[in-house]
Parts: sequence; C-alpha cells; structure tokens
Amino acid sequence: MNEEQRLETNQIKNDPKANLDRLKNMDSDELIGKYFQSTYQPPNLKKAKKRLKKDVDIHYDYAVPEDMKGIGQGKKFLIRTYGCQMNEHDSEVMAGLLTDLGYQPTEETEEADVILLNTCAIRENAENKVFGEIGHLKPIKMENPDLIIGVCGCMSQEESVVNRILQKHPFVDMIFGTHNIHRLPQLLKEAMFSKEMVVEVWSKEGDIIENLPKVRKGNIKAWVNIMYGCDKFCTYCIVPYTRGKERSRLPEDIIQEVRHLAAQGYQEVTLLGQNVNAYGKDLEFEYGLGDLLDELRKIDIPRVRFTTSHPRDFDDHLIEVLAKGGNLLDHIHLPVQSGSSDILRIMARRYTREDFLELVGKIREAMPNATLTTDIIVGFPNETDEQFEETMTLMKEVGFESAYTFIYSPREGTPAARWEDNIPMEVKKERLQRLNALVNEQSKASMEKYEGQIVEVLVEGESKKDPDVLSGYTERNKLVNFKAPKSMIGQIVPVKITKAKTWSLDGEFVESTAEVL
Ligand code: SAH
Ligand code: SF4
Ligand code: F3S
Repeated sequence: MNEEQRLETNQIKNDPKANLDRLKNMDSDELIGKYFQSTYQPPNLKKAKKRLKKDVDIHYDYAVPEDMKGIGQGKKFLIRTYGCQMNEHDSEVMAGLLTDLGYQPTEETEEADVILLNTCAIRENAENKVFGEIGHLKPIKMENPDLIIGVCGCMSQEESVVNRILQKHPFVDMIFGTHNIHRLPQLLKEAMFSKEMVVEVWSKEGDIIENLPKVRKGNIKAWVNIMYGCDKFCTYCIVPYTRGKERSRLPEDIIQEVRHLAAQGYQEVTLLGQNVNAYGKDLEFEYGLGDLLDELRKIDIPRVRFTTSHPRDFDDHLIEVLAKGGNLLDHIHLPVQSGSSDILRIMARRYTREDFLELVGKIREAMPNATLTTDIIVGFPNETDEQFEETMTLMKEVGFESAYTFIYSPREGTPAARWEDNIPMEVKKERLQRLNALVNEQSKASMEKYEGQIVEVLVEGESKKDPDVLSGYTERNKLVNFKAPKSMIGQIVPVKITKAKTWSLDGEFVESTAEVL
C-alpha cells in the first residue's frame, strides 16, 4: 500500500460515516485492491474443500509476542459467541490470548476496548443475528473510534460475508477466521497501530497449536477439543468448508489436558469435535474414540461426555467401552437428520434408516438405560409428506428424549444449495411444529419417569429464574432445579425428584444416596 492509500485508509478508519458514503459504490474487488495489503486473499469455499495429503504439524511453542506484552494493560475486552460448543471453546482461547496481553474481561459494550463477534454460519438466521449485532455496534464505534471491532469464527470463512462487511460495515476493524485464532495478538496490533482494516482468513486449515492459553468459563465443567474439522461433507452443511479437514489431537495431549483439569478440581469434561467418532482416523497409528475413552475412564474426574457423534463411524469397540460406564455417561447425542432413507441418501449421510435403527439396537443392548437425543432437519429439498412422516415415526421408534430441530437453510457453496429449495416455508413451518410437539411429548414422558426417584446432580450454580434455587444436570443430561445451600455449587449431590416438567425436573436435596439413579 502506498502512502496516499495509507492516508486515505486512515482517514476512512477514523471517519466511519464518510467511509460508508465512499465505499457504497465500489465493488469488492476494487475495495480489496484499494484498501488492503496486496497479500490479502479472500476466503474461498472451493479451496477450503480440497483435502491435501500433507501431514498436520503440531506446535507446542506458543508464546505472547515480545512486542505485544502488556499491550492490553488497563483495557477491556468483550467476546460475543454464536453457534456451537466449538465456538464457545474457541472464545475461551481468544479470552486466554487477550488476558495474556493484559486485557480484562467486561460484559458492558460501552466499556470495551475490543469487541469480538465469534460467529456461526450454520443457518441463515444465525448469520442474520450477527449482521444485526454488527449494526448495533456502529453507533458505539462512532462514539468511540478507538474501539476495535473484530469479526471471527465460521462466517468469516465465507467470501460473501467478508464482502458484505467490506461494503456495508466498513467500521469493522478486523476479520479473521477459524484457522488463525492464534494470530489474534498480531492482528490486533495491526488493527490498533496501522488503522487499516485487517482481513486475514485462511481458506486452508493450518497446523495444530497445542499450548494456547485459555480462560475457561467457570471451574466446574470444561470443553476439551479432541479433533478439528470435518470430512463428511453432508450436502447441506457448511462446516467442512469453514472448519477444514479432520485433524486429531494426539491422545497424550488430550489425556494430559483432562488430567490437568481433574487436578484443578473440574467435575466434568466434554470432548469436542464435529464428528468425534472419526477421532484418530488421521493419526499414524491405529487409535479411535473407543481407545481414547478407555484411557479417560481411568482418570479421576467424575464425568466425561462427548459431542457430536456421527452414526456412520459409531463402532462396536466404542459401544463396548461406553458400556463399561464409570465416568463415561449414559447419554449419547446422535444426530439422525431424517427418518427417510431417500432423504438421508441425498443428504450424503451414508447410512439408511435401517442402519440407524440397527445401531440404536446395539447401543440399547449394551447400555439399556442410555438416553438418546438427536438433531433433525425438516424441509430438505424434495422432502415429501411421506418422507417427513418417516422422520416422525423414527422419532417415536427410537424414543429420543429430546431433539434439536431445524428448518433446512440453503448454505452457499454446499451441493444442496444448488438444488431448488422447493418446500414452501409454510409447509416447513408446519412440519417443524408437528415435530416439535412430538419432541415435547417425548421429553415430558422421559422426565416423568424420574418422579419420586433420586438422581445425582452436578450443581452448576443459581437457577437463572430464581437465585434461591440451585440448578445442575444429571448424568443423563436432565436439568434439575432444587433448593439447597450455595456451598453445594460445584459438587455432585443426590436430589429427589418431586415434579417433572417438559424440559426440566424439580427436586429436593436428600441426605441419603441409596437408590441413586
Ligand atoms: N457435526 C454435527 C452437526 C453440527 S451442525 C453432526 O454432524 O451431527 C448442528 C446441526 O445443525 C446438524 O446436526 C443439523 O441438524 C443442523 N444443520 C446443519 N446444517 C444445516 C442447514 N444447512 N440447515 C438446517 N440445519 C442445519
Ligand atoms: Fe456437517 Fe455432516 Fe460434518 Fe456434521 S458430519 S459437521 S452435519 S458435514
Ligand atoms: Fe456454527 Fe461453525 Fe459451529 S458454523 S455450528 S460455529 S462449527
């Protein structure tokens, strides 16, 4: 960038309103050429789709860059997180990086010196929420031009999103993606000092960086990444493009992290991956999720969960290990997406309704009391009434105790987005309503089984609605509200269930642990 462009850019950054007027009439190529470093490459979903043979390197040598130490002294940051647990955990890493630079956290937009929006691209409404929030930040940026606004996460990996921010929201200071979170300190510095809009999004995944700092939310439950990316390429899904190819962390690094969390007093870990059942497939030795869980079983931490499972890779060894119980909990989230084999085929899920039922049969045989929950999409292109009815019957046949249900949302760049989105919105909404009514019914029925029983609850804190009430989850992931002294927060305690609701249980603390469910 020459001096003239630099001056122009600085002026633009310092006067967002003038910036808006000026940029309105330019196309994105012109914008990129004019205002950004010549090395800037827009994110590209086609490139993101390529799976290269190159091995992933693992780095253990992260350190705060010398010239960045203390740069956040006396300043505050705010991170808004959208989307899945993966993003929640990435935000903990960003909080760790910012804390290492000297920043303090805040919940107040007006107080913040850095605001990061960690975004989700899974459905259109997820994206709309973020664009709404970016809009809300504009007057705050006008008031406080030194505020740094960053957009990161899955939406940043999409070229259309980056272009839209360039054109419509030029007051944003930096955009970075899911593969270069560890570069946050450098990007922040660029954004602070050069006052140029900093855009750095890698279309290809990078290496695994092991020892990034983390500031976890709370000290009772912790997320632990076991793998990154997804190679499944379900035809509707943007994740394989925004998160790159599957890369597993080494077992010893995961085991060490869980041991460390146990030593710090954490009561529960949730192992994270988009398809945790593919864990280990890319390692140079034979090792899978079953092997990993068999190791984690021996660690002195009361609860180990994992999410999300893909039915296709759920193997017999894993079922065998899960059946050993102990700290491996009796709850499996197993997204099925549809009950129709024809729809499953065009979704490229690589299993049929019959395969899924067979898997459920095996799980039930090995773990008769396991709770199964799922994800379902309604209104996929060409889904007939009959095919939707198959989803309803599968829901009943499996006896899912709860489900996240979604209306299909075309995602640019995915195969399904090229097909006509031909189910009218009112039909999609009607299907969703009917499905949700069934989900509620099954959830309520599963809750009612607990009335009069004693369950073990990991107490997480005060209930959101009533500070006199504590709340937490059972092993099978049921939310329980009950009255007990605050000193019980962080402990696993027996609670007798007095009343079942649709989505939660009411109970009372009991002294005896006899007959605990
Ligand atoms: N990796 C997980 C899912 C991650 S996305 C898995 O495969 O199980 C979470 C859920 O969002 C998916 O299970 C699916 O039900 C839903 N979803 C994904 N893409 C979608 C789309 N384009 N429209 C509607 N729902 C979608
Ligand atoms: Fe998306 Fe399918 Fe991968 Fe899940 S398994 S993240 S639905 S592509
Ligand atoms: Fe959303 Fe990205 Fe997670 S698209 S669901 S935040 S992996």
